[in-house]
Amino acid sequence: MGKPVVLVVMDGVGWTEKDHGNAVLHAYKPQIDELMTKWPHTTIKASGVAVGLPTDKDMGNSEVGHNALGCGQIYSQGAKLVNESIESGKIYESQAWKDAVKYAKEHDGKLHFIGLLSDGNVHSNINHLIAMLKESKKEGLKQVRVHALLDGRDVPETSALQYVDQLEDVIKSLNDDNYHCAIASGGGRMVITMDRYEADWGMVEKGWHIHVMGDGRKFSSAREAIETYRKEGGYTDQYLPGFVVADKDGNPVGTIDDGDSVILFNFRGDRAVEISKAFDYMNKGFNAFDEVKKPKVYYAGMLQYDGDLKLPEHFLVEPPHIEHTMSEYLVQKGVHSFACSETQKFGHVTYFWNGNRSEKFSDELEDWVEIPSDIIPFDKKPWMKACEITDKMVEAIASGKYQFLRCNYPNGDMVGHTGNYEATMIGVESVDLMLRRLMDACKKYDYTLIVTADHGNSDEMYDKGTNPDGSPKPKTSHSLARVPFAIYNGPEGTEMKEGDDFGLANVAATVVKILGYEKPEWWLESIIK
Ligand code: 3PG
Ligand code: CO
Repeated sequence: MGKPVVLVVMDGVGWTEKDHGNAVLHAYKPQIDELMTKWPHTTIKASGVAVGLPTDKDMGNSEVGHNALGCGQIYSQGAKLVNESIESGKIYESQAWKDAVKYAKEHDGKLHFIGLLSDGNVHSNINHLIAMLKESKKEGLKQVRVHALLDGRDVPETSALQYVDQLEDVIKSLNDDNYHCAIASGGGRMVITMDRYEADWGMVEKGWHIHVMGDGRKFSSAREAIETYRKEGGYTDQYLPGFVVADKDGNPVGTIDDGDSVILFNFRGDRAVEISKAFDYMNKGFNAFDEVKKPKVYYAGMLQYDGDLKLPEHFLVEPPHIEHTMSEYLVQKGVHSFACSETQKFGHVTYFWNGNRSEKFSDELEDWVEIPSDIIPFDKKPWMKACEITDKMVEAIASGKYQFLRCNYPNGDMVGHTGNYEATMIGVESVDLMLRRLMDACKKYDYTLIVTADHGNSDEMYDKGTNPDGSPKPKTSHSLARVPFAIYNGPEGTEMKEGDDFGLANVAATVVKILGYEKPEWWLESIIK
């Protein structure tokens, strides 16, 4: 029989020698340093094709990272599947596309697109939106509206105007006597609509008011809104307040009304689930907030975001159907497991981990603990809930009830996304400090501890170029870095295999090997001999 295993995901902690703006390299982190020198260790791939993304230029992200960790395989992910579906034209043959077009036409309604306006390729891609706008004209639709969520988190922090201009150019080239498209509303993705894991439903409520009701501060264009807010409040894109585009008389140009169709063009699920519930469950007991206005619309997502909830009901592209996950396998083996994180990453170690399914395989064998996240910009408190997560982990280890335990420390990522270098170092240091407690508990109760990460972020906190005052430009997005992988207190003789081709999808087989099981045939091989 093998040994019980504790797996730690240090979210957003990449491993690279690159010195510039590297908040991991420069952090005081004696535990991580010990793990990456004195114990069996390596670095593994966490971006590009190794995690199912279209190319090796695509940085990793938590969805694809946790999917790969949790299923031991590489699946073509949303970004790639949507590209292919658009290229082949298959997307326009989907029932959802046809029905969305038909519904708006039959009711003389508008077709709305809501989504993240950037080419970050984490939640969405502006090219998908542009392709669908062109097709909507071919379909003979007359009124089309875009509700643009501004990014600055997966792309440079003040890049919104670049995407708005790109979109406005396309709109201008399409508009004529029969076809009218316009940006109708928008706002920063961390302020409206794109909340996740029910951390702050108020964000979605604000988005509902802005997009559906046209209830918000009015501007003559998205550009005017962005420039005004920037001047007034110095906002970066992700935090820009919501705005409504209105005509000369102050009437919103594109509220969502009876007879309209709505397509959410984000392909990633975590931040798409809540707004999808607001539409799909509108008349089915939805009570997360008072919707006030409940238009009769046809709603579709780019993908189906939750395979257990079948949410949303209608979707344009088949999501990856992730099978043979580690959770399912361990349940078959009768293994008790434990998962823990704070709200911001709770779904990462449960929903993403299980192939974008929100439910457990076994209530009896699986325990999940969520620590409520604070609702604050995380550079204000870079230690976040690292201590509380550790308390729960140590308690679960000491209970002796579980053979496999996993947790996610969000700090390297969530603080990294603020672009604040000093705070991010403290975030990484907070995680490091907590690792000591886990290492001690694992030693005491004889568990193996595996420490890794899902993708880079905090390892690259500076963008190219400098600000006018000579200070480095902050970088808020993920990086292409490899991630650390270390095994503490492993079974006797634990030794890494040679080679640098291993990635996140090799971790599952490594875990079950230590637990004393054979890997299922579908999984990639273990990283240890
Ligand atoms: C976010 O949703 O916060 C970012 O777009 C991606 O971050 P994550 O992949 O680390 O969750
Ligand atoms: Co992130």
